[in-house]
This record gives sequence, structure tokens and C-alpha cells, in this order.
Amino acid sequence: MPTAPQPCESLGLLVQCRPGFEADASLELQTSASAARLEGKIEARAQSGFIVLTHDKPTPHDDVRRRLDLSRLIFARQSFHVLAMLDALPERDRLTPLLKAIESFGSRFSALLLETPDTNDGKEQSGFLKRFAPLLEAALTKAALLRPDSPHLPRLHVFLVGTQCAYLGVSVASEGSSWPMGIPRLRMPKDAPSRSTLKLAEAILTLLSADEQKATLRPGLQAVDLGAAPGGWSWQLASRGLRVTALDNGPLAPSAMATGLIEHLRADGFTWRPKKPVEWMVCDMVEQPSRIAPLMAEWVATGRCRRSIFNLKLPMKRRYEEVERCRALIDQRMRTGNIKYTLRIKHLYHDREEVTCYLTRR
Ligand SMILES: C[S@@+](CC[C@H](N)C(=O)[O-])C[C@H]1O[C@@H](n2cnc3c(N)ncnc32)[C@H](O)[C@@H]1O
Repeated sequence: MPTAPQPCESLGLLVQCRPGFEADASLELQTSASAARLEGKIEARAQSGFIVLTHDKPTPHDDVRRRLDLSRLIFARQSFHVLAMLDALPERDRLTPLLKAIESFGSRFSALLLETPDTNDGKEQSGFLKRFAPLLEAALTKAALLRPDSPHLPRLHVFLVGTQCAYLGVSVASEGSSWPMGIPRLRMPKDAPSRSTLKLAEAILTLLSADEQKATLRPGLQAVDLGAAPGGWSWQLASRGLRVTALDNGPLAPSAMATGLIEHLRADGFTWRPKKPVEWMVCDMVEQPSRIAPLMAEWVATGRCRRSIFNLKLPMKRRYEEVERCRALIDQRMRTGNIKYTLRIKHLYHDREEVTCYLTRR
């Protein structure tokens, strides 16, 4: 990648992913870029936690944004348009060359996202990051480059790889995560029955807009949880005041039952049906994705539920292809019913070998 960009021309795209998912993230980015007629070369190192697509020719990032919506990438926790790459940062003073490069972009920014790969090497930098972040922020503020009161401005990403290399770039609020490295800082609620409650909490924050959250997660609304035990997801919905029918042959934790809003049924999630339509159906059953996807589509298509959040478990090698196969199964069911729908899919920070989906009628 050349090191001297023209102002605001994007040299490429940097996508951060869970270490071990570089091949899936690469295939997805290559496929999306080709569909958008953005030719380029992908570099991906196994277990590095990020991939880079270098455009064949530097392209204004507004142009790239019009053609490729980074927010739709499933295996991207975070992504941005690369404006410069510095690969010989002096360890004694990284601030001066970084600031010089940032000033050359001729832009102001709404926020600074100082990031590293989510690897052991990246974590070793966390002490340095804590010390460096306020210094860089103060320098940017002094140079009048940081304007937190102007959210329409792009966000500045400084992605440090090791001690000498930095990728610098930008994203707008709608295309990347507002959390550095796409890692939400969610506190484990003390009464929740399992850590997987955080997965549903992250899914709600990531896959639904603030307005959608407000309108659809209200006290009094009904939900069904397929494969609920020990009750982390049911508890998450009950903590928002929803009434939950929780299906599982296994037991629910006492803390879930103590909410007084959860009814536990020992029944099969594949055959059980609600007597009346419900607002939400969530599903975390450990099953083949090709069995889960049609079941979710059927619930939404027939109006048994208005919306659904569900997991597709991906223990197989070709994860991206499997997700696309499930997307096609859902699309096929919706087309048969002539139903317009919204499907959002993301590999969340709290997801391991799985992705989380949101499906609703439009
Ligand atoms: C990953 S766990 C669910 C964890 C849960 N979401 C939580 O937050 O605590 C998967 C659950 O799916 C249940 N399960 C698997 N197949 C099922 C089926 N056909 N019907 C109902 N539950 C099923 C299992 O018994 C298991 O408890």
C-alpha cells in the first residue's frame, strides 16, 4: 500500500474481525467489493484479527461509500476507509508523525477511535493505548481537528498494529461501530442466569435502531424464547418488561423465574405454536443453520411473530457460504408469500462460532 495519499482519497478498506474469521471476512469483502465494481487486492493473515482490501486505484471515500455499505458486512466488527498507512513509527515519539499524517487529510472529525487487533499482541498494547489516547486526543483538539459536537463529521480511526505500524482512516456513524474495535462494554447484570444474556443485549443494540428498540421492547409485549435454558435471553426480555414463554426441556434458573414474567414450557421448539401472534420470537437452539433459518422464516411469514432475533450456529469451515445459504432459504420463503422483509446479520463480539440475525416484515 503506498504511504502518501491524496487528501480524502481512500487507499482501501480495513475490516476488523474475530481472530480466526479472516477467511470468512475476506471472502465476504471480496464478494461485496466485486459486486460494487471496486477492484482491489485483499491481504489477510490468519489469526491477525483484521483484513485489508487495497483498491487498485485510490478512490474518494464518498464514492466507495455510495457503492459499498460497510454496515452490511457480517464478519466485520468494525471497518473504515484507509487514508494512510505508516509503517516506521519511531517508538520514542509516535505522536508527531501520526498528527502530521492526520493533518494532511484536511478534514475534521467527530471522534477518535484508537484501536488495535483483538489479539494477544493487540492486548499487550492496552497499557500504551490508555496512556496515548489522552495525548493524541489533546493534540487533535489543540489543532482544532476534533469536534465531538458535530456528529455528522467522520470518525477518525487510528489502528495500531504492533509498535511501528498504524493504519489511519475514517468511517461515518452509519457504517462502523461506535465502540472502538466494535467491542461493546456491557456489564454482566448480577441477576442474569447466564452470560449469553449479553449476546441478546448486544444484538438489540447492534441490529435495532434506537427507535426500533423503543417501539418493540416495551412492558406488556409478548415474546417466545425457543431453546431458552438456563434463561439468559428470556431474562433479558423480562428485564425490559416483556412477558416471555420460554421453551426448553432443560430447567430455567431460579433468577429467571423470579422475574415473575417468564412461563416455562417443556416443549419442542420446532413443533410448538403460540395460540395468538406475539411481538417477538427469539431462538438460540443449538441446531443446524439450515433447519433454523426456514423455521424463523415460517414464524415471521405466517405472522406467528412480528420480529425475531436468532442465532445460526456455524461450527463448519465455510461459514460465509453457510450464512448465504440460510439467507437464500429465508428469501425463498418470503418470496413465496410475496412478503417484503428486513434481514440483518452480524457476527457479534459475544458470538463465537455463530452469527446473530434480526428478521422482520417490512
Ligand atoms: C445455547 S442454549 C440456550 C441458552 C439461552 N439462550 C440462555 O441465554 O441461557 C441452547 C438450548 O436449546 C435447547 N434446545 C435444543 N433443541 C431444542 C428443541 N428442539 N426445542 C427446545 N429447546 C431446544 C437446549 O436444551 C439448550 O438448553
